Amino acid sequence: MIRSIEQLEIAQKRLFIRVDFNVPLDKKTRQVKDDARIRAALPTIKYAIAKKARVILASHLGRPDGKVAPEMSLEPAGARLSQLLGQDVIFADDCVGDGVKKLVGELREGQVLLLENLRFHPEEEANDDAFARELAALCDVYVDDAFGTVHRAHASTVGMVKHVPQRGAGFLVAAELKHLQPLLKGAAKPYLAILGGAKVSDKIKVIDQLMGKVDALLIGGAMAYTFLSARGVPVGASRVEKDKIDVARRILERAGQSRVEVLLPSDHVVANEPKAGVATRTVTQIPDGMLGLDIGPMAREQYRQRIIGARTVFWNGPMGMFEIPEFAPGTRAVAEALAEATKRGARTVVGGGDSAAAIAEMGLEDKVTHVSTGGGASLEFLEGRDLPGLKVLDE
Ligand code: 3PG
Repeated sequence: MIRSIEQLEIAQKRLFIRVDFNVPLDKKTRQVKDDARIRAALPTIKYAIAKKARVILASHLGRPDGKVAPEMSLEPAGARLSQLLGQDVIFADDCVGDGVKKLVGELREGQVLLLENLRFHPEEEANDDAFARELAALCDVYVDDAFGTVHRAHASTVGMVKHVPQRGAGFLVAAELKHLQPLLKGAAKPYLAILGGAKVSDKIKVIDQLMGKVDALLIGGAMAYTFLSARGVPVGASRVEKDKIDVARRILERAGQSRVEVLLPSDHVVANEPKAGVATRTVTQIPDGMLGLDIGPMAREQYRQRIIGARTVFWNGPMGMFEIPEFAPGTRAVAEALAEATKRGARTVVGGGDSAAAIAEMGLEDKVTHVSTGGGASLEFLEGRDLPGLKVLDE
């Protein structure tokens, strides 16, 4: 059983909260571009402050590969957190060492200290034991609220945990599990999974896992062209994972045996190149030399009808190259249909990553049941895997 932060004694204690502040920063202004992950950690941080813990926050940002990379500093995240909390956030320029020990020693009840990017040290991703012990020595209680990172077996998510006397999960991890668990067991039907994005290979395991559970799979994004190729439909110059056509064919066969309907786009928005401002056409057959870059209006309407009639929907991956306005309507249509389904009482869950970014950009994130803060983590959870960051909390 994983204990909740509410079951831990945190008053006056040095409480280490592993958060996922891996947020996008504006290259020019260095400000946080999307603070969703910081806001998602607020309930736990506010609770810890109210309970008079001495709060130490730690996270990674980006993939600096074990080197100090000033453009991946967590300082802007600390500034944003301070605004959101309405109180000072002390910032440490490292995550271990004498300077950090001193700051932790001086930390008073209800104060918040944010450590610098854990991944500036190669030992974090290597899950080095000496480094993990150094982190553990900073605190009396460990709480994991970094759902986006529970699939990583790193020093701050796994290694340090066993060296800390008390451990548990924060409110964000609890909320993620509450919304993701029903997708694996006992989901109300009709249950649909909408999968998009570039690669079939990223989604094979999750498709395998969902196959016995969902009534239909709706496919979009570039991966649709690999599936269409597996059905023998010509896809012009669209992006296809040639070495995955067989896998796609097997998935289609298995879906047939399991009576899971697989919907592939019946029409497409095509262009000569994936660029803003190019001439686009809507077609049912992709001509030679043209690229499919979004699902077409017929597919959008067909998917919408299915989505609004469902009682459980999981969505991961955009329907087209939504970052280019010409190819965003398919993704927008799915996001809007999810909002409509939610209004009608469906449980709608958006897996993190690109689909979370898309729904946020469309201002619809509050109109669905749950938007996961985990990209890889939510997919691995739905693959039915034991996630190391959760397993280590389970006592
Ligand atoms: C994420 O953005 O999915 C998490 O913060 C994990 O980041 P990572 O894929 O670099 O480990």
